Amino acid sequence: MQHPFRRPLLAAAAAAALLMGPALAQIPAAQAPAPTAQAADPVQAALAESRAAAQALTRDLLTAVKSSLAADGPVGAIRTCNEVAPGIADALSQGGMTVGRTSLKVRNPDNAPDGWERAVLEDFAGRKAAGADPATLEHWEVLPGAEGGRSFRYMKAIAIPAESPCLTCHGTDLAPAVVAALDQLYPADQARGYRAGDLRGAVTVTRPLP
Ligand code: HEC
Repeated sequence: MQHPFRRPLLAAAAAAALLMGPALAQIPAAQAPAPTAQAADPVQAALAESRAAAQALTRDLLTAVKSSLAADGPVGAIRTCNEVAPGIADALSQGGMTVGRTSLKVRNPDNAPDGWERAVLEDFAGRKAAGADPATLEHWEVLPGAEGGRSFRYMKAIAIPAESPCLTCHGTDLAPAVVAALDQLYPADQARGYRAGDLRGAVTVTRPLP
């Protein structure tokens, strides 16, 4: 089943709100339907914050993994990923927002996707198979949230770039010491066998919407 992709609708709504802005300004203040004009704003704000959080997580993890690889080598860097990655995600999760990483083939079972995330990951995989550049794939939706509220959910695909350290720990030809360290920490590891250009997973952000 094709997953619904609502981005064009949201983009159209935002464009309509922009176009309506000047027209509304000419309506006498008492009649101006201000709530309608502002309706798209919380979604746009949530999208901007989610994109920023996803970028920050990717950047902070890459910095941590690169410096640890240089200082400690691959086995030490695996321990850094194991200990530091969840903490970096927690530090970025503030104000009701949660930020994390997920994949159809997880290394850490704590990162397993829920139903909505799985559907989006499958949609990303389908779009990549149809020729899309995985580095450009993102998806967001407004969903029913807790206690009758609304929830904004955002996902940004994570690709394996050509020139990157990813394959040291997620590739097809792992060093024996890397295999031993991974086997010990992640007995159910599924996140091996990737090649440059593959879709590795996605950053996932959830936040309540006013
Ligand atoms: C030093 C080894 C190492 C390198 C290099 C590395 N990773 Fe990982 N990766 C790990 C470990 C260990 C985990 C599990 C972290 C945890 O326990 O949350 C992980 C988890 C992940 C996850 C979360 C989903 C899952 O499988 O649990 C993604 C996505 C990911 N890595 C992508 C990448 C990308 C993209 C790169 C390159 C920029 C990369 N990794 C480089 C070791 C590595």
